[in-house]
Amino acid sequence: MKVVKKVLIGLLIILGLLQFYRPEKNNANLREVTAFEKETKPSAEVKALLSANCYDCHSNKTEYPWYAEIAPVSLWIGHHIEEGNEHFNVSKWNSYSDKKKDHKLEELIEELEEGKMPLDSYTWLHGEITPQEKEALIAWAKKARGAFEIQ
Ligand code: HEC
Repeated sequence: MKVVKKVLIGLLIILGLLQFYRPEKNNANLREVTAFEKETKPSAEVKALLSANCYDCHSNKTEYPWYAEIAPVSLWIGHHIEEGNEHFNVSKWNSYSDKKKDHKLEELIEELEEGKMPLDSYTWLHGEITPQEKEALIAWAKKARGAFEIQ
């Protein structure tokens, strides 16, 4: 019993100390999506879907929930944001070549069709997207690809 107590106290101390470690936040003043939305022309509905379900990990600004302040959740969320943006960041859309833009939209369709995006860990807390919403996103992305496909 004594050992268990010591281990628990040890873990609490570690957890407490971990709170001092704050990963860098992804929080620009403005969520820059203008170039992306200008070129891919989402409808108002699709814009709202992207904003509510995707831009937290795929733009230069995350809307952090309160629990994102608490380690180790903060580290875990920070990692998803970093990795998500590494693969696909709509705020950097202008720096992508046409080929890359087309490829990212192709990936986007695949990720949605396979049910991989938004990440499960995100939908646990933010809610799932409905099959109709998924269809709307896929239809928009397929249409948007037309602008970049190599002729
Ligand atoms: C909680 C963070 C998070 C959310 C929310 C999220 N993603 Fe992702 N996304 C990631 C991570 C992490 C990766 C990279 C690892 C992977 O592919 O699973 C990724 C990868 C991708 C890729 C692949 C890019 C490539 O080149 O391989 C696309 C496209 C994508 N996400 C689109 C979306 C869309 C569309 C939504 C909203 C419907 C969305 N994501 C929501 C974190 C997120």
